[in-house]
Formats: sequence, C-alpha cells, structure tokens
Amino acid sequence: MARAHMLRLLCAIFILCFQLTCCSEVKKYPLLMPHIHPYRDELYICTPVRVVDNKSFYIVGFEPNATMNVAHHMLVFGCTEPGSTNEIWDCGEMSTNESDKNLVTAPPCSKGNHVLYAWARNAKTLKLPDDVGFQVGQGTEVQYIVLQIHYSKKFPDDVLDNSGLNLLYTERPQSKLAGVLLLATGGKIPPHNITHMETFCEIREDKVIHPFAYRTHTHSLGRVVSGYRVRRNDTGTDHWSLLGRRNPLTPQMFYPTFTKEPIKYGDRLAARCTMNSANRNRVTIVGATNNDEMCNFYLMYYVENGNPLSMKYCTTVGPPYFYWKDTDLNNIPDYEASKSYD
Ligand SMILES: *[C@@H]1O[C@H](CO)[C@@H](O)[C@H](O)[C@H]1NC(C)=O
Ligand SMILES: *[C@@H]1O[C@H](CO)[C@@H](O)[C@H](O)[C@H]1NC(C)=O
Ligand SMILES: *[C@@H]1O[C@H](CO)[C@@H](O)[C@H](O)[C@H]1NC(C)=O
Ligand SMILES: *[C@@H]1O[C@H](CO)[C@@H](O)[C@H](O)[C@H]1NC(C)=O
Ligand SMILES: *[C@@H]1O[C@H](CO)[C@@H](O)[C@H](O)[C@H]1NC(C)=O
Repeated sequence: MARAHMLRLLCAIFILCFQLTCCSEVKKYPLLMPHIHPYRDELYICTPVRVVDNKSFYIVGFEPNATMNVAHHMLVFGCTEPGSTNEIWDCGEMSTNESDKNLVTAPPCSKGNHVLYAWARNAKTLKLPDDVGFQVGQGTEVQYIVLQIHYSKKFPDDVLDNSGLNLLYTERPQSKLAGVLLLATGGKIPPHNITHMETFCEIREDKVIHPFAYRTHTHSLGRVVSGYRVRRNDTGTDHWSLLGRRNPLTPQMFYPTFTKEPIKYGDRLAARCTMNSANRNRVTIVGATNNDEMCNFYLMYYVENGNPLSMKYCTTVGPPYFYWKDTDLNNIPDYEASKSYD
C-alpha cells in the first residue's frame, strides 16, 4: 500500500519535473551584426531576424555581447515589417548624409514599431521580472526583431564587427505579458528659451498595468524628461506619482521606475521634456535628424492577465499648441517635473 503510494508520488514528481524542464527552459538566440565594417563615423546599422509566424515565444531577458568602445548604443525593436529586406541597412535616426550611397537608408521598422530593449555604457544583462515576457511571433504584432547599433567611430580597414546580444527566450507562456508605451510630443522650440514639451493621455482599457522600467530620449536640447501617473481622487484633486525622471543626455537605457504602483483604468499618464535652446539661434522642430528634436518617455510594464495595452502611444502636438496647464489637469508639479540634477 505504502509502496504503491510512494510509486505514484515518484511518478507525479517525475512528470512535474519533466513538464517544468520541457518547455520552460530559457534558451538564447544570438542577434548579432553579420560581420560588418563600420566604414564611417556616426553610423547606425540595423539587422533583422524573422520570428517564425506559427509559434509564440516569450522574451524574458537580454544579454549584451558588446563593449562601449565599439558600440555607442544598441536598441532592439519589435517590428511587424522591417525597414528593409536587406541583411543590413543604414537606420540612423540622426543620419543627415544624403551623399552616402553605401547602404540603403530606412527606419528600423516600416510597420509596427516597438522598442523592446536599449543598451548603452556596458550595461549588464537585463532580466524581466519573474513570469514576465514579451510575447513575439504568432498572434502578435512582432514578426521581426531588429537590432540597431550606433557606431560612433569608423573601424580600421579590414576590421569587422559582430556585436549584438543574446535574446533570452522561452516557449513556455509567461503569465504576465510585457509591453512598452511611448509618451511623446510634436511641436517646435523657439530659439533662446526654456520650452516644455508636454503630453498626457487617459488609460481607457480595463487592465492593471505594472510599470517597472523607463527610458528617456531627446537629442541635444533635452535637459530633463519626467513621467507621471496622475490619479484623480474623489474630490477632484490630481495626485502625481513620479514614474521616472532623468537627464536624457545620460546613457539612454531602461532604468527601474521610481515607483511600481499599478496604473489602472481612468488613470492618466503624463510626461514633460524640458528643452533648453539658450545657445541656438533658430527654431527647432520635432523630427528624425540631428537638426531636429524629440521628446520621448518610454514606459515598460507588464499586465497581470491577458494582452498588454492596445494603446502603444500617448502623444500630443506639443508646444506652442499644447500644455498641461491648458487641460483639466490640476495640482501640476511644475517645479518637480523640470528639476534637474546638474
Ligand atoms: C512552422 O513553420 C515551419 C516553416 O515555416 C515548419 O517547418 C514547422 O513545422 C511549422 N511548425 C508548426 C508547429 O506548424
Ligand atoms: C561575445 O560572445 C563571444 C562568444 O560567446 C565571446 O567570445 C566574446 O568575448 C563576447 N564579447 C563580448 C564583448 O561580450
Ligand atoms: C557624408 O558621407 C561621405 C561619404 O561617406 C563623407 O565623405 C562625408 O564626409 C560625409 N559628410 C558628412 C557631413 O558627414
Ligand atoms: C520664452 O518663454 C517664455 C515662457 O514660456 C515666454 O513667455 C516667452 O515669450 C518666450 N520667449 C521667446 C523669445 O519665445
Ligand atoms: C483629495 O486630495 C486632496 C489633496 O491632497 C485632499 O485634501 C482631499 O482630502 C482628498 N479627497 C479624498 C476624498 O481623498
């Protein structure tokens, strides 16, 4: 009797172990540059990998294989369609050099652009929280994963590079799916001034969102970028919780959010970029080249059940047409939102 029981128990343990190891194993997929030659300074190169479309995978971490003396930064995009069908292309956001005919020029994605990861300054492996993964492949908008590397320095002749990273992934469905929401503005920045570029939007999906990392991005005029969860209480007062705030000229990676307090239906998300054009004699508009500016706050989060938000962007037209103060937002932390560390 006792022996039969023991046997059943052992069997159960065996089956359990088998199930745990069978599909939950975390594997590595190397996403590397195909031995390329960075032939000039300030080059942005993209290379894609197609995700098989009849299976889902869950990316649970990113293990960099690069050093900062070679790569200035790396970004990983999830795309529905890649920017080009070539093995590599010039995908420089900052690229202004029209005379450069060595490579096809295209953005990282031509359709469905999601930033999944950012690396700079020898950042270590990023592991998403337990049971959290980015779902890619079947049933998702991510059919391609594109690696972008910014090489600041031209390589000597005949020296090739295969920097990149390992995607850590599993086929086991993760119970919490990750997503990235981009808060951004359009607009223009007058010369010789401090300009606030502001955006906000309301969560209109019945989900509980757990923020865990954020990234700020501007070009050279950005001084501070801050992002908030804004929750209105019963008497109509807005409470602003700082999700993250940074000098965007520090390495533009994902950093842990200041708070992990959940965001829910009816909450607002808001971001401000404080731009300083004191030393510029011309108007700067929002755009992709080095002459233009950007105001971006990326929020990485997971949801407890079901798919990430269908809302991917939270944007406004920006200055001089849109400011928080002209909306129904109240209790605006005007000083805190622009407070810099330098
Ligand atoms: C998925 O597609 C690949 C080729 O496109 C095929 O080899 C594989 O058998 C398919 N797998 C399933 C589970 O359908
Ligand atoms: C990249 O990976 C290769 C192979 O595992 C290893 O030899 C090399 O040292 C790694 N390079 C960096 C910069 O991590
Ligand atoms: C543009 O690219 C060409 C060819 O690589 C190079 O000679 C030239 O210096 C570049 N110009 C600028 C402004 O970067
Ligand atoms: C600079 O900004 C201030 C405050 O936003 C505004 O009142 C002023 O008109 C601006 N000056 C210029 C030259 O745009
Ligand atoms: C709403 O917030 C204000 C300001 O913090 C506070 O005075 C008020 O008591 C709050 N009302 C409720 C119902 O929590």
